[in-house]
Amino acid sequence: MNPKTTTVADKSFKMMISAETIADRIRVLGGEINRDFADKKPVLIGILNGCFLFMADLVKQIDVDCEIAFMKVSSYHGGMESSRTITEDYDLKMAVSGRHLIIVEDIVDTGNTMRFIVDKLQAKKPASVSIATLLFKPAAMEQKLDLQYVAFEIENKFVVGYGLDYKGLGRNLNAVYQVVL
Ligand code: IMP
Repeated sequence: MNPKTTTVADKSFKMMISAETIADRIRVLGGEINRDFADKKPVLIGILNGCFLFMADLVKQIDVDCEIAFMKVSSYHGGMESSRTITEDYDLKMAVSGRHLIIVEDIVDTGNTMRFIVDKLQAKKPASVSIATLLFKPAAMEQKLDLQYVAFEIENKFVVGYGLDYKGLGRNLNAVYQVVL
């Protein structure tokens, strides 16, 4: 059992999405990807660091041939506000021209990070670019982006757990927790 409340660094958090609910929803998303990408041999591109648990659990639900790759960008720098300056820490090493790409991200908040990633990938002339995100905060969105696979839409409050951090901590929590202000 996961605790209902927890403290990460100097803030209190309460459980918002349980580990079981996350697992159920990822099974559904995996099924949709299997249906949509049969015979397309997609490349799942995980956006580090936050994607690591979602990516691992999602690929376990995918039974069509697929490859995986990673990119690393940062925009939050560990706090609760996006810096809006996106830095690319680790570029994609794989050649993806002509491939079907699925970006795997922990959360789309303002959408600025995702816009940056989509633009970078589109420049490499892939066959298609789709987006899978664990969390989406519609109220914070500043970009026009099609999000094909959204596990959960959430309100515009800071969250941690299941890969997401606050001040570098909390990524190892099995559930998603919302800040208590
Ligand atoms: P965006 O550019 O505003 O969409 O922010 C995207 C990135 O900010 C995500 O990949 C996360 O790393 C981080 N982020 C956004 N919202 C949260 C949150 O509520 N908790 C933890 N990290 C977040």
